[in-house]
Amino acid sequence: MDHLEAFLNFVEQSPTAFHAVANLKEELRRAGFRELREKDPWLVDGGGKYYVTRNDSAMIAFAVPRGGFGPYRIVAAHSDSPAFKLKPRFEDVAEGAYVRLNVEGYGGMIMSSWLDRPLSVAGRLVIREGDGIGTRLVNLDRDSVLIPNMPIHFNREVNEGYKWNIQTDLLPLYGDEKAGGKLMEELAAEAGVSPDQVLAHDLFLYARQPGSIWGAEDAFFSCGRIDDLECAWGCTQALLEADPRDTIAVCAVFDNEEVGSLSKQGADSTFLYDTLTRAGFALGASDGEIRAAMADGFMVSADNAHAVHPNHGEKFDRQNRVYMNRGIVIKHNARQKYTTDAVSDAIFTLVCEKAGVPVQHFSNRSDIPGGSTLGNISNAHVSMNTVDIGLAQLAMHSVCETAGTKDLDYLIRALEAFWG
Ligand code: CO
Repeated sequence: MDHLEAFLNFVEQSPTAFHAVANLKEELRRAGFRELREKDPWLVDGGGKYYVTRNDSAMIAFAVPRGGFGPYRIVAAHSDSPAFKLKPRFEDVAEGAYVRLNVEGYGGMIMSSWLDRPLSVAGRLVIREGDGIGTRLVNLDRDSVLIPNMPIHFNREVNEGYKWNIQTDLLPLYGDEKAGGKLMEELAAEAGVSPDQVLAHDLFLYARQPGSIWGAEDAFFSCGRIDDLECAWGCTQALLEADPRDTIAVCAVFDNEEVGSLSKQGADSTFLYDTLTRAGFALGASDGEIRAAMADGFMVSADNAHAVHPNHGEKFDRQNRVYMNRGIVIKHNARQKYTTDAVSDAIFTLVCEKAGVPVQHFSNRSDIPGGSTLGNISNAHVSMNTVDIGLAQLAMHSVCETAGTKDLDYLIRALEAFWG
């Protein structure tokens, strides 16, 4: 199976950050990586390969060279994507005739893209288990709910740019008035427990529409959550295929980037710092040697980039604009929303040159503030030379995004070279 086909398969199996991390873990485990737990002591050896998770929604994997401790070479991406999240008490009878679900927004999604398409529900249930609690991943994986539009006859301005209100416009329909309690029954059955065992949940809506490769010469592909599962999956594949010689190869997939990264499992947490220092100590390095390895480290912050829109080229900078299928995007911002500077740009450009991978440069129009990502946030905890990169895509934060079919291979090849 080629990389893109395997990636589309991964996206279908990964409706939430919990599923993405579970699936990445499984691939690493099958390739001989061993699990470390934060609450246990760590045994780490030269030549060993490991992974550790936090909250089951963030993961850091690393491969130690045979010679043992060395400088850190880090690639970071994120596991989460914008979606609607079910509130703790989510059932709501409307008009005496419907059960709809009470949801809130997670991250900045393009709301209109979620309407009038069947959606499903996935996430985790926390259940009563013996004297304590247990966790179950669930994915209904069937069309279960839908957010209906108003007919245009009652909403004549919908094509003039409509301001959606999640609380009043976007609550999804689940069933008729007799459907009360049925969704939790379905979810509990999926998890193999009874509904009264369920204590709490983190549940999200997602679209089941399978990925599609399309266009002249199959230039493009579309599916959900390309931002940032393409980089998260791509950097994990590169780690599986890499053979680090004298540096520690680290692949970090953080949660909660779409809501600002400030959580125990986000880039604005101690997760990376804790993992790097614990791995260092377990390899016999001193505090000073670990700090030196960070100072001598390099980080690639990998989160997707905006390709020039075919109908709105005017929104993009004239010289620093990027396109799908033309290689890895290096992102620049003078205010350091992106961490790239001349040194990290030059180093990563050389890595790509050696790997035979094209690079292109992105900078926003000076009068359009861009997004930000996890590189500069992570640098507040683990400071090292960092470059911000991504792959060019269209329709970021739509329920169905689009990217170029050639770029995933470029990413994997460049990161293998970075770690090789
Ligand atoms: Co992103």
